[in-house]
Amino acid sequence: DSYESVDRLMAEMTLAEKIGQLNLLAAGEGLATGAAQHTPLSRRLDAGQVGAVFGTKSLSSARSMQERALAGSRLKIPLFFAEDVIHGHRTVFPINIALACSWDLDLIEDTAAFAASEAAAEGLHQVFAPMIDVSRDARWGRVAESPGEDPLLAARLAAAAVRGFQGKGIAAPGRVAACLKHFVAYGAPDSGRDYDNVSLAWEDLLSVYLPPFAAGVSGGAASLMVAFNAVNKVPMHAGEALVEGWLRGRAGFDGLVVSDYTGIKELIAHGLGPAPVAAARALLAGVDMDMVGEDYLHQLPKLARDGLDAPDAGLSLSPQQMVDLVDRSCRRVLTFKARLGLLDNPFRGLEKARAAPSRTEGRKLARRAAARSAVLLKNDDVLPLERDAKVALIGPFAADRANMLGTWAVSGKAEDVVPLDDAVAALTGRAPTVAWGANIVEEAWLERRLNVHGVTVERDPRGEADTLSEAVEAAMAADVIIACVGEAKEHAGESSSVLSPEIPLPQRRLIAALAKTRKPLVVVVFAGRPLALGDVAEQADALLYAWHGGIAGPEGVADLLYGATVPSGRLAVSLPAHPNEMPFSYASEPTGRPHTGRFEKFRTGWLDMPDGVHRFPFGFGLGYGKVRYGRPSLTAQRSPADRPVLLRLRVENAGPGEVVETVQLYGSDPVARVTRPGRMLLDFKQVTLSAGESREVVFEITADQFRYPIAPSLDAAEWVRDPGLVRLHVGPNSRDTQTVEVTWKT
Ligand code: IFM
Repeated sequence: DSYESVDRLMAEMTLAEKIGQLNLLAAGEGLATGAAQHTPLSRRLDAGQVGAVFGTKSLSSARSMQERALAGSRLKIPLFFAEDVIHGHRTVFPINIALACSWDLDLIEDTAAFAASEAAAEGLHQVFAPMIDVSRDARWGRVAESPGEDPLLAARLAAAAVRGFQGKGIAAPGRVAACLKHFVAYGAPDSGRDYDNVSLAWEDLLSVYLPPFAAGVSGGAASLMVAFNAVNKVPMHAGEALVEGWLRGRAGFDGLVVSDYTGIKELIAHGLGPAPVAAARALLAGVDMDMVGEDYLHQLPKLARDGLDAPDAGLSLSPQQMVDLVDRSCRRVLTFKARLGLLDNPFRGLEKARAAPSRTEGRKLARRAAARSAVLLKNDDVLPLERDAKVALIGPFAADRANMLGTWAVSGKAEDVVPLDDAVAALTGRAPTVAWGANIVEEAWLERRLNVHGVTVERDPRGEADTLSEAVEAAMAADVIIACVGEAKEHAGESSSVLSPEIPLPQRRLIAALAKTRKPLVVVVFAGRPLALGDVAEQADALLYAWHGGIAGPEGVADLLYGATVPSGRLAVSLPAHPNEMPFSYASEPTGRPHTGRFEKFRTGWLDMPDGVHRFPFGFGLGYGKVRYGRPSLTAQRSPADRPVLLRLRVENAGPGEVVETVQLYGSDPVARVTRPGRMLLDFKQVTLSAGESREVVFEITADQFRYPIAPSLDAAEWVRDPGLVRLHVGPNSRDTQTVEVTWKT
């Protein structure tokens, strides 16, 4: 029925009404992240010139906007409502890179489903999530929102998040439409600088950056947002070959494409032409809705009347072609509304008494998610702590609330966070001593920049010498030190790229001073990106990478520190040895003069990087137990390419407590037509083992998992598979593996 309504509406609508549907405006109650047009929203609603609104902050505000929109629309076409629900809505979960470190797809689905139910209870129909930009560059601030460095893990996380948000249908109660973003390669800007252009081989694009989008599309994602950056010189808001060509043509996406914030207008700054060309290019590329730029609204009426002849921009379109493009996008907007059930009932999801999910359940889930997201990197017999130990909690994050929310938690509240000092006191029945010890950053100007979006950083007004001596005094009086260091939430996130992703200097000085006390030193890192740890990794007796863990982040940390939960996180992104060694990935291709683990003249590497610096590889993470891996065996060493091979191995928990082990399978292809990644994640299995338990883990391997693209251009891209030998590497992380070989016969 609703699809018939789309046809009926399309037949009855005027051109102006159709263009109005392409306009996506902000409610004005949220975060402005660019130079939005400031036409009052109410004026646009009254004139029937809005297709959707994002950033409403309550059900009643959405409801009254819907009433106003219907009154202003001759054909009574409803709005849909959207919001940035990136890692939770009111209940803020750990940032996405942290969630990715859980490698727990059920957890990802559950957190997305919970966020969906909270969002839906407030009248939202679409969330601008999941963010599925693979990133291998810790300088880039939005690595905080990303699924990490690996395409396979990112693809599985993308599919799980889409399942969680959408369930079996986006019109079902408590569900919302997912919006995959940012299409594409936004996580690979040149120099790690946000919004910068992307220079990649097509092969990289196809095998690293596109797979999460392919997985999200196969999972039925109903919408997608294009990225600010250019890929190989074409800004994605004009990226016809990738959006209309790859996404719709090859991946089979049939949903709605929205622009990013003023992204269409920004085509002018990219150098693609004046405003009419920018609007025409974006529409031609298949960008259906224009977020807060109003370029479609201003440019399309004239373009549809006169067409476009812009030889300097290499673009010419007839009036009829423009009208057809408007129709194409308007139909997609209406179809999206039909799928949301809004054409049948414009108040679908806006009913007054909406059942909100239980905040208590949300808190429980957030706490579990925080504990599963933190990665234990080192433990020299210090953890878990005894509950009666006398603890000194030292550092700028010891009693912090606001930063725990992480970036892009637009609906989160700092007062919902239980800070670590309270969490420790609640768990142990003893209040820890708290001392500040160091400022978050060295320079006051940097601190002012971090504070742009609200007070997230507080400076201790006393000088460093005073705070440091107070911290050391507190440490000396304790049995164990828990140092809480890292970065502020706005130190990572959008437009927060940094040149040196490392623990800021004042905090490193604090750790050095604490280490000198020779008290057991547990370092907990609260951060939005993988930070180079420098000497901290050596100075700490135990090291827990806790990210920005959301409203229950510190409670999750306390659970881990005291053994109420076992650590199970595994790095979804490598922790760099040095902050300037970027971009970096475990999966990079070998050179003809590969690194040998130490500096050698005339081999790749860094002259000024000491050997043996600590780096924690992708997939790494410790538990409290002792896991033994048996020898892997194969069902066949030679196999026809169309027959799967099984790899089996036993994993045994030889320790006294429960462990959650993520068994990881990597592959490598030593002979191919192009150079292939040193190793690449093929599969993983998470098993929970009680003390003494052993379990057989079985992986099914097919030749198809070794397919790779050859791509002289995007259009000429071809996925190939060669016969011959491949290697399988299995183990607890990407470095510490056992290897077996399989030969695929033709
Ligand atoms: O969804 C976001 C996007 O990730 C960055 N620019 C603004 C959008 C809407 O708030």
